[in-house]
Amino acid sequence: MRLNLTLAVLSFAALAATAPLPIHSHNDYTRNVPLMDALDNSVTSIEADLWLKDGQLYVAHTEGDINKSITFTSLYVQPILDIIEGRKASPIKLSVENPLQLLIDFKSDGNASYGPILAALEPLRSAGHLTTFKDGVLKQGAVTAIGSGNTPLAKVLAASPRDLFFDAPLATLTSTPPAPGVDWSKELSPLASVDFGSVNGVLGTIYTGIFGTVTSDVHDKIVKQIQEAHAKGVKTRYWDAPNKEKLYIELLHDGSDWLNTDHLTTVRNIVLANS
Ligand SMILES: *[C@@H]1O[C@H](CO)[C@@H](O)[C@H](O)[C@H]1NC(C)=O
Ligand SMILES: *[C@@H]1O[C@H](CO)[C@@H](O)[C@H](O)[C@H]1NC(C)=O
Repeated sequence: MRLNLTLAVLSFAALAATAPLPIHSHNDYTRNVPLMDALDNSVTSIEADLWLKDGQLYVAHTEGDINKSITFTSLYVQPILDIIEGRKASPIKLSVENPLQLLIDFKSDGNASYGPILAALEPLRSAGHLTTFKDGVLKQGAVTAIGSGNTPLAKVLAASPRDLFFDAPLATLTSTPPAPGVDWSKELSPLASVDFGSVNGVLGTIYTGIFGTVTSDVHDKIVKQIQEAHAKGVKTRYWDAPNKEKLYIELLHDGSDWLNTDHLTTVRNIVLANS
């Protein structure tokens, strides 16, 4: 009986491995095996913190953590290209149908990093794998690259063609346009994000700490933000939310598109049990 149950769970997991889940691997490079732990858990949205130093792009949490053998190219660009082109095994074959959302958190100066980051994406670009907005048409690729952190909005806005997008500020999506006369859209920002604490507030944070969920006011605020984003075709992500099962379920049921987490297997199980 026990064995049968285990086998059933295993085969369910094996099946589910091919269907991407609405989960985002926050600071993915801190997982045991960057990129692959995410894909093993059916997670197709990942985030890397990038530092420009001496002309090289390193993946690290702080500048002091830089390890010269861990570059953006070695940790992400090359393995991603190898998976798409079938040279590297993966439980999810990344493709236009099953794309990877690659969130690039610009940690160093935005304007100085922009050119080098675009250049680092060139192997994916030249092979035609990047989602691209060109001549008014958004063409889905196997990889959608989105800049957050210090990403220079003006440069992303001016880019044509555009294949590095901008993580929009979810809380001010309807009040503050990206530029005069321009509106937020999926062609500029496939994703909009906000610090969960800023939505939940000080009392809300205490409430969530006790009950694991949010007050009805905060619930209404979240639903409104998600609806406003969806009306523009933009997907949503709340980051730095407490790691509470009820809160993941709340965000899932409220329609938030990406559950931000450092706990991939836990959240995978929550999503599978609650979708
Ligand atoms: C730097 O990264 C390499 C490759 O992952 C690893 O073998 C090495 O131990 C790391 N060096 C330090 C100082 O952490
Ligand atoms: C990039 O440079 C412009 C012009 O100097 C400046 O207004 C903007 O804030 C800079 N952006 C970032 C993200 O550093």
